[in-house]
Amino acid sequence: MSNSKNYDVLIIGSGGAGLSLALRLADYSVRVAVLSKFALTAGSTYYAQGGISAVFDADDSIESHIDDTLDAGAGLCNPDIVRLTVTHGKKSINWLREQGVVFTEEQTADGEIKLHLNREGGHSHRRIVHTADATGKAVSLSLIERAQEHTNITLLEHHNVVELITDKTDKRVVGAYVLDSKQQQVNTITARVVVLATGGASKVYLYSTNPQSATGDGIALAWRAGCQISNMEFMQFHPTCLYHPHAQSFLISEAVRGEGGKLILPDGSPFMHKFDARAELAPRDIVARAIDHEIKKRGIDCVYLDISHKSEAFIREHFPTIYETCLKFDIDITKQPIPVVPAAHYTCGGVLTDSYARTNITNLYAIGEVASTGLHGANRMASNSLLECLVFAERASEDILQKLAAIAPAAAIPDWDESQVIDSDEEVVVSHNWHELRRFMWDYVGIVRTDKRLDRAMNRVDLLKKEIAEYYAHFRVTSDLLELRNLVIVAELIIRCAKQRKESRGLHYTLDYPETDDSQPPQNTVLTP
Ligand code: FAD
Ligand code: SIN
Repeated sequence: MSNSKNYDVLIIGSGGAGLSLALRLADYSVRVAVLSKFALTAGSTYYAQGGISAVFDADDSIESHIDDTLDAGAGLCNPDIVRLTVTHGKKSINWLREQGVVFTEEQTADGEIKLHLNREGGHSHRRIVHTADATGKAVSLSLIERAQEHTNITLLEHHNVVELITDKTDKRVVGAYVLDSKQQQVNTITARVVVLATGGASKVYLYSTNPQSATGDGIALAWRAGCQISNMEFMQFHPTCLYHPHAQSFLISEAVRGEGGKLILPDGSPFMHKFDARAELAPRDIVARAIDHEIKKRGIDCVYLDISHKSEAFIREHFPTIYETCLKFDIDITKQPIPVVPAAHYTCGGVLTDSYARTNITNLYAIGEVASTGLHGANRMASNSLLECLVFAERASEDILQKLAAIAPAAAIPDWDESQVIDSDEEVVVSHNWHELRRFMWDYVGIVRTDKRLDRAMNRVDLLKKEIAEYYAHFRVTSDLLELRNLVIVAELIIRCAKQRKESRGLHYTLDYPETDDSQPPQNTVLTP
């Protein structure tokens, strides 16, 4: 038995982007539903460590933050979007403080209490506002608490969107079919506005810093609904993920390098100075490629990040989560270097949006990591993504509030039809294909690419797509099947974008075209369904 619900605005995703938007709308009597396919804390936001970039230091400036962002983006940032985002930094941090987020502070020599600012790769100044090394947890828990108190917000956990519903005649979105995973039924949720806030797609790779939720669902939903997708070749690999057989996806924050952490080889020798004058503080594409190069050249399993020259008190105060987690794996970071490897971390591309987070489908918005706003270009600078979540949630709220009253409700929507499907008797197909997809994406579409590797990957995507489509047509949907069906589309979009780019730029590095092509103005990659 399925049921139907109706809201003014349906927000798919309960991370920093989705909850910020919900809170901004609900204060204006808008009835909002926020979905999370798992628990409310399931997204990447909860795991963010380093912090949120914003200009607070007297020696820093908006122009400097803009220049650093443009520099990291390797010619593909939209300068207007960069300026818009960066100028909203301070305001966004203050809004979070109003929601109850407590950031780390310090006392200056003359007794003034001010925000403590971290430093990270690519930033020419200290400008990362943070809560020790667990910024995302502080942001996430405060926003959830505020949303739970709000009578205009309905929070629906374990609700996984199967498909967006669009009105084909006037090309607008009118709602979504949603799997209630606890009840095992697909419900219809209609809304005048739908917002994708589903996070990134880094789980398309075997090794990733991201939580399970990061399967690129929003990108695949948008693509199937007719949205343009941009810059998917720019998948960011974080240089330093803990390397330990029992540690899954644990990040060692870039702030460790910001505080003087040194990358060293197993024999203790440093190597980053050979790759970039900024050494450990070079943008993360350069650091990740350098580590990948050393690992492959020397046939070693990992490199090491050493912060043990700092005092124990400093390390435990600034990196309590990293200290405790490493200790659980018998690594005392106050005394020993940390074994690290690169892992897939951030999706710079995604659903193409304008400066109000609007997609090319009427009443459908995309905010946060799922979106391609033009802020990151070919490479995202550290700690600019939480800022983007906050700024574009605010921008979307302004546009939605201005036009909501004039949007007509949708005509009747048919219920989800399960009459032609049965329960699967071969779940192993789903788990096998999941593993195969993530393995070949890591091997063929990872940090270093070639045309031949991309062709190999595309051949496998074609086979998987057929198999998954057939499975989807015959069996009742499950969360795992939905994610796999979305992941294979994400893989295809990454490969198609990568194949179009006949140069190396930012995060996209190919041995067949190792130089950046500066003979013509750089172009973003845009795919249209
Ligand atoms: P998320 O926080 O990922 O939330 C996605 C939401 O969508 C979840 O609620 C999920 O359940 C829901 N969802 C997904 N698919 C569906 C579906 N089909 N149906 C229903 N719901 C769905 N960035 C910084 O700026 N600073 C940092 O210090 C930083 N550190 C990081 C550390 C780690 C370990 C990681 C993984 C990322 C880090 N990032 C950092 C990146 C940043 O955290 C993310 O880009 C950002 O939090 C994304 O927020 P979001 O709201 O777009 O998505
Ligand atoms: C980190 O703390 O290194 C992650 C920062 C980011 O991804 O922006």
